[in-house]
Amino acid sequence: MKVQLARITRSRKGHPIRAEQLVEGETIAIGRGAQCAIHLSDPRVAFEHASLFASEGAGRIAGVGGAALTIDGRQAGDLVLTPGVRFEIGPYQFVVEEPPPGADAALACELVRPLPDSASELSAHSTMGLEAAGLGKRGPAWTLFILVAVVFLGLPILNATIPVLRALTADMKVSPDVVWSPGPLASGHQWLSFDCGACHQTPFRRVRDVACVSCHEKVPGHVHAPALQKELFGGTRCAQCHFDHRGADEPIRADAGVCMPCHADIKRTYAQTRLDNVTDFATAHPEFRLVATMNDDASTFDLPEYIHSRLQPQIRSHRALQGRVVSGRNVTLQIEW
Ligand code: HEC
Ligand code: HEC
Ligand code: HEC
Ligand code: HEC
Repeated sequence: MKVQLARITRSRKGHPIRAEQLVEGETIAIGRGAQCAIHLSDPRVAFEHASLFASEGAGRIAGVGGAALTIDGRQAGDLVLTPGVRFEIGPYQFVVEEPPPGADAALACELVRPLPDSASELSAHSTMGLEAAGLGKRGPAWTLFILVAVVFLGLPILNATIPVLRALTADMKVSPDVVWSPGPLASGHQWLSFDCGACHQTPFRRVRDVACVSCHEKVPGHVHAPALQKELFGGTRCAQCHFDHRGADEPIRADAGVCMPCHADIKRTYAQTRLDNVTDFATAHPEFRLVATMNDDASTFDLPEYIHSRLQPQIRSHRALQGRVVSGRNVTLQIEW
């Protein structure tokens, strides 16, 4: 038997669009299964729902295995394909048409009750949102925001501004303003790691020299002559030549920007100096030279304290060096008087 099948879809404006095909076979299966010659993909159709066949000179259709056809709202097992007859298989409507020449029957098929658009349909039906389940985004976002603001801003500000609190937290294992530290302190200062106020005496202000001098009472000036010290360094802060928070290194700057304006041509700054010019303390340090003055009885000698040099304690502990020139691999110490 030959059946002409016209599948009808609708344009957006509702006009029918026909796609015709000729299906041939002794019996023609209709259903959702892939093996069916007339394939209806909707899940409400059985795998093999009905079959078409010719019998007693007429085309017929019959439901398979109890599957029913619907004719005018009523269930039927089979029917003769007479032009004009309508029946339904699941959500599809079939109309029997006048067969064209060369075909035994003609059917037009249209999906008249499509499944609803699942996503929007589902969300319309679902009653449980993330908020209802306590998983909304706003709550955790605010909680975290407040937590961060309290721990990293509120507590350190309170600790820094209330002197009583500051004194209490100075001895704690971890003080609240540690979170603001820009880096580990110099090795000599690491014992102050939780007592930020030792140097940062006034919150939100630069470190003042009085803080440094409160511990380093006896630090002499950079230059011997007091008048010159005042003239050259009167307005210079300790922190301009000393840094901190950059790890365990000795916290003395050696970068060209701070030291070279004077040391690249030191005689221009201090005409009587006996120092050599230095173009870079890190890579081109000049030979060391130390000047000591013999005491009257020539038993000891004084080392000038005008440079707060770390060489001095070493020389002091080596009295035997008196009057001799000491040479090392990179260092020559000459003691003059
Ligand atoms: C031994 C002294 C000392 C102690 C203790 C100290 N600091 Fe500092 N800190 C300094 C110096 C010096 C500077 C550089 C200041 C300048 O250049 O004016 C500085 C700078 C800073 C800066 C500014 C960083 C920048 O790049 O300008 C912050 C923030 C800071 N310190 C936080 C802390 C915190 C937090 C603590 C406690 C955990 C602390 N400091 C303890 C000496 C100290
Ligand atoms: C609470 C006391 C205290 C304060 C405040 C303090 N220091 Fe110190 N500083 C020390 C101690 C203690 C050492 C370790 C000395 C040692 O190792 O001989 C040290 C070491 C140093 C060293 C290294 C010396 C060395 O021999 O390695 C320098 C440079 C220095 N401090 C400069 C400063 C400056 C600049 C400030 C101010 C920003 C300052 N200090 C604030 C107590 C303090
Ligand atoms: C404003 C000018 C000036 C700046 C800036 C300066 N110095 Fe000096 N420095 C001098 C003068 C002047 C002397 C003393 C010279 C003398 O007494 O003969 C001196 C002495 C020294 C000495 C002692 C040298 C010796 O053999 O006795 C050292 C070390 C030194 N400076 C290192 C530095 C370093 C490091 C810096 C940078 C952090 C620096 N200076 C920044 C002017 C300066
Ligand atoms: C012009 C730069 C400059 C200024 C300003 C300055 N220093 Fe120094 N400071 C140095 C240099 C350079 C050294 C290393 C000198 C040396 O080892 O001979 C040093 C060494 C030190 C040392 C270590 C001394 C030792 O025996 O090892 C301390 C502590 C120190 N300075 C504290 C201070 C303090 C406190 C202030 C502020 C009152 C200050 N310095 C200002 C350049 C400076």
